[in-house]
Amino acid sequence: MSDQRTHEGLVLVGTRAPYEVRKFPTISPKEDEIMVNIKWTASTPLDLHQADGGLLVEHPMRTGSTGAGIVAEVGDNAKHFQVGDRVFGFAHQNPEWKTHQEYATAPEWVFGKVPEGFSLEEAVTLPENFVTAFNTLATDLGLPTPWPKPAGYQPPRANERILVWGAASSVGQLIIQVLKYYGYNHIIGTASSNHHAYLKNLGASELYDYRNPSVVDDVLGSAKGNGAPAFPLIVDCIGSQQKTLAPISRIAQSGSIVAVMLPVILKHSSTKSVPEYSMDAKSSVTWVTGVNVSGVRTHFYWKNEMFREKLQVSR
Ligand SMILES: NC(=O)c1ccc[n+]([C@@H]2O[C@H](COP(=O)([O-])OP(=O)(O)OC[C@H]3O[C@@H](n4cnc5c(N)ncnc54)[C@H](OP(=O)(O)O)[C@@H]3O)[C@@H](O)[C@H]2O)c1
Repeated sequence: MSDQRTHEGLVLVGTRAPYEVRKFPTISPKEDEIMVNIKWTASTPLDLHQADGGLLVEHPMRTGSTGAGIVAEVGDNAKHFQVGDRVFGFAHQNPEWKTHQEYATAPEWVFGKVPEGFSLEEAVTLPENFVTAFNTLATDLGLPTPWPKPAGYQPPRANERILVWGAASSVGQLIIQVLKYYGYNHIIGTASSNHHAYLKNLGASELYDYRNPSVVDDVLGSAKGNGAPAFPLIVDCIGSQQKTLAPISRIAQSGSIVAVMLPVILKHSSTKSVPEYSMDAKSSVTWVTGVNVSGVRTHFYWKNEMFREKLQVSR
């Protein structure tokens, strides 16, 4: 087919300015690429940070990093997909891959087949934060993520206490499930009380309400007698300087590894003022000496060869 075809896509043209719909060339897939007719896409917090706060944006910029749709064409070396397959994926690196457009053309490793029994609408909620969960465990916490998981697998730090702050967020729910899948036994979460039963069902062993003024003491008290650091592994699924990093900095002790979802929100958005962000979690609050702080940047997950090969594409 000719590459003179065009399709429509969303573009950010300015901070806090309305999106524009523009026409783009529809790219025929080459080599290992596939072209996907995007039927469903997600609006994620990153889309909000970009539209509302101009985070890491050069205008004009095509948007959308999660999509689900139907394979329309395949490149000569595509091995995993056929025209008509239902696929979903986290696809963000190039303008042609973006998912707020009618057709995305990207390498097949950023897509997977939607399992039978799930609609495209359901599937599109998963890819970005599923990749984030694996990337956080491996890249930021330094935990192994063997795939396929060997029979009888026991992770090396199975009995250490892992704190997931913001456990009810999309990222938090998936991190709990991936930790549980690999066999971690002490997953402690913070969330509003109405989510506690649900999160226990996903695999959390203890939950604390972050809205409770005594939450830091409650969380630390739960770990008494377990040695130092009380929480060797901590994930901040929210990344708010005042609301999450401030309490977590009182819990992390020398030897703790803290993975923080970037950006750190220094000033929350309001109708009157733009938000302020930082991409440096270490200097956003004061940490006790010996705490290892890692800012999560899932956009670079593909540097992990195993993730690039296996995390999304069906094998
Ligand atoms: N850097 C990266 O690689 C990366 C990747 C993915 C996401 N992120 C970032 O991670 C953040 C979360 O994304 P998401 O999609 O998971 O968000 P989400 O699903 O929209 O999270 C909403 C939940 O956050 C919880 N929450 C809000 N404030 C909280 C607080 N102070 N303490 C504890 N929990 C709190 C609320 O829980 P309750 O209902 O319990 O109150 C709410 O249900 C976003 O800022 C996003 O940009 C970063």
